[in-house]
Amino acid sequence: MTDINDVPKFDSNSENKTNETSNSPQPLKYKYEILPEDYTNFDLSYKLIVIGDSGVGKSCLTNNAVKNVFEEAYNATVGFEFFTFNVRICEKVVKLQIWDTCGQELYRSLITNFYRNSSLAIMVYAINAKESFENVEMWLRELRTHSNPDVKVFLIGNKIDLEKEREITREEGEKFYRDNKLNLFMEASAKAGINTQNIFLKAAEILYDDHLKYLQKKKENKEDDNSTSESHSEFENKSTKIKREDFNDKKKPGCCLFNL
Ligand code: GTP
Repeated sequence: MTDINDVPKFDSNSENKTNETSNSPQPLKYKYEILPEDYTNFDLSYKLIVIGDSGVGKSCLTNNAVKNVFEEAYNATVGFEFFTFNVRICEKVVKLQIWDTCGQELYRSLITNFYRNSSLAIMVYAINAKESFENVEMWLRELRTHSNPDVKVFLIGNKIDLEKEREITREEGEKFYRDNKLNLFMEASAKAGINTQNIFLKAAEILYDDHLKYLQKKKENKEDDNSTSESHSEFENKSTKIKREDFNDKKKPGCCLFNL
């Protein structure tokens, strides 16, 4: 579980930065490079969904992270909008397919179709709108009802540039994140460009981590099967076949496969 509040916006050309302040418990742990939105090659692809009340800034957060823009005018999303965020992590290109949904009640039944097959959900509230935070519980319930049981969930408190209008403390956000065993809590501002890219970089990192764990497990299963087959030759052909390329990354310096 991580929280990278107060980590400065990452520069796409830089190597990972280690933030030295005590306010940033865990910066990103892999080397990364943000790639253009229209980059076509990828090794891993994941579906993400952005949910939360209408007007909390879901579209602005996503637009700011992906296109580095901010729209002051409010244009309610109708149905959903689609974005891609490509990032290279340890020589693998991770493509995030982001479905930015509309928060209006009228379209809520439409959204349930997007929960299915989502690997990660980004739940957004606005720190200056108490009701949007109270409704996070409802969004989480909806998500848990319709999504895969292993979906990862982030909680994002947006609009921290409106500090004077704050109605939800950071501690309240953190408590909800802890109580509900979510995967990340972060405050952000689409307007000021604070933490917008970090949300998606952290998403890519967590999903990439999961992929590494999956490969590791596959390898362990194979080893288990091999040792069993040595002592029980009648089970010789039962072991799972694993492609060699699945493990190529392990040999590359700088890749963090063994830091699981
Ligand atoms: P729906 O499409 O209706 O679900 O809304 P949404 O959650 O996508 O909100 P949207 O991104 O359209 O933003 C709503 C309004 O909030 C717009 O007027 C934005 O300019 C404003 N807004 C979004 N993010 C921020 C922020 O970080 N700070 C401030 N001050 N305003 C923001």
